[in-house]
Amino acid sequence: MIYAEILAGGQGKRMGNTEMPKQFLMLGTKPIMIHTIEQFVINKNIDKIIVCVPKDWISHTKDIIEKYLPGKEIDIVEGGSTRNETIMNGCQYIEKKYGLYEDDIIVTHDAVRPFVTTRIIDDNIFGMNEYDAVDTVVPATDTIVESKNGEFITDIPERKYMYQGQTPQTFKMIKLIEIYKSLTKEEKDILTDACKIFSIKGEKVKIIKGDPTNIKITNLYDLKLANSMIMLRGNK
Ligand code: CTP
Repeated sequence: MIYAEILAGGQGKRMGNTEMPKQFLMLGTKPIMIHTIEQFVINKNIDKIIVCVPKDWISHTKDIIEKYLPGKEIDIVEGGSTRNETIMNGCQYIEKKYGLYEDDIIVTHDAVRPFVTTRIIDDNIFGMNEYDAVDTVVPATDTIVESKNGEFITDIPERKYMYQGQTPQTFKMIKLIEIYKSLTKEEKDILTDACKIFSIKGEKVKIIKGDPTNIKITNLYDLKLANSMIMLRGNK
């Protein structure tokens, strides 16, 4: 089975004081996360969609899915305290409800990246023919400057080797669960990126080409930008 797991378990603190977590805010005519889910609904390769949200927002999520995606069978699961915990909650849910099989694939995607394309999703899935983990990236356009103390530069890596991470991040599910279970609490605290879990354990992570338009809506400016992008394509 190929599962899509929409990660909508965050609080969106950097968005500022909004009445609801950012994934539920309106973008054009529908909530941000509905745009995102739609990209997976229309993808023929996806067998099942799981959406993970904060506990208090489960009932609201049911309502908006019924309203904007009537008749679509989408599972709603409680998110976790960190992004990785949210991913694992979804995996546990799948294991319990559908069982876990050798060739199960999970395409994890930020609910707040509504402009993900079919090409990106398909490339992620195609990558699973050869690899256990795939990450979506774009070449860094700005020079990346590292500062370990926030005061002085500790490194300026060569830009041609630098990329910015996007999502989806796609995994063979059994391998992801196995590696996550092997982490210590300290490792879990540091490894905030699911692909880093693989790379730190010496596992290959294939990078595939993302798209500059696959933006993550993090703050108010991003929301304004996303609204302009929606207007440009006719408010759909
Ligand atoms: N996410 C999640 N579970 C968490 C934390 C984050 O599913 N415990 C999801 C968010 O809902 C979002 C995606 O991961 O769709 C990317 O995370 P980010 O933009 O950092 O979202 P938030 O954690 O919500 O934002 P902030 O850091 O501003 O609070």
